[in-house]
Amino acid sequence: MALLGVNIDHVATVRQARDTDEPDPIWAAAQAELGGADGITFHLREDRRHINDRDARLLLETVAVKLNMEMAIADDIVDIAAELRPDQCTIVPERREELTTEGGLDVVQHAKRIGAVVTRLRERGITLSAFIEPVTEQIKASADVGFHAIELWTGAYAHAKTAAKRDQTLADLRRAIDTGNESGLEVHGGHGLTYRNVALVAALPGFVEFNIGHSIVARSVFTGMLEAVREMKQLLVQHAPQGGGSNRSPAQ
Ligand code: PXP
Repeated sequence: MALLGVNIDHVATVRQARDTDEPDPIWAAAQAELGGADGITFHLREDRRHINDRDARLLLETVAVKLNMEMAIADDIVDIAAELRPDQCTIVPERREELTTEGGLDVVQHAKRIGAVVTRLRERGITLSAFIEPVTEQIKASADVGFHAIELWTGAYAHAKTAAKRDQTLADLRRAIDTGNESGLEVHGGHGLTYRNVALVAALPGFVEFNIGHSIVARSVFTGMLEAVREMKQLLVQHAPQGGGSNRSPAQ
């Protein structure tokens, strides 16, 4: 069964709406752990629109499960990651005008710059994951520049308006998982996953980790974070691929 990484960014988004001190994403992370999260994910954006430096520092001190930092390859953010040394850094594209991370990293085009960041952070003992679209060239380029893992963008699946389109996106993800494993990469998934749409992706063999944020935070407003995470975790268990084998790639 794939692990559940809970992205707590949008707890901080609510805090920043009033530039105050509540709700605290650190409390949310603790509640997510109590609800069964296997990991906590946060994105330290260049504009600090939600998670800030204080949050990143406290998450590092308090989170007991895997801590995954999403980040762009901007110099100052890379410096912070190298100093913090979270368990994993997921490299994402970042544009200031976007509402959330849109689409994947172009590892093919930016191989040299991305490769230098991967090398530097790997030397700090951090696991490196590339957030990419399920495209063969991007997967192979991610392996070539030294990533340990890829996180496949599940946005196309999440946004599919018809059953035919949805099936096509699932086939693309299935193929990408195989290519990732053949390239020695661990395969993660994330973006746009919700309580309503997670089942079909959770049933694909080969996903080691899902990172889910907005839908869990949205539900937590009504149920509390602990219960919201418990419910998502239950869906991953319920829809896990049959066979019970480990999803870990042979290379890990
Ligand atoms: N994975 C990555 C790399 C992301 O950038 C995001 C959005 O911050 C997520 C997963 C979570 O997406 P969502 O909030 O749509 O669940």
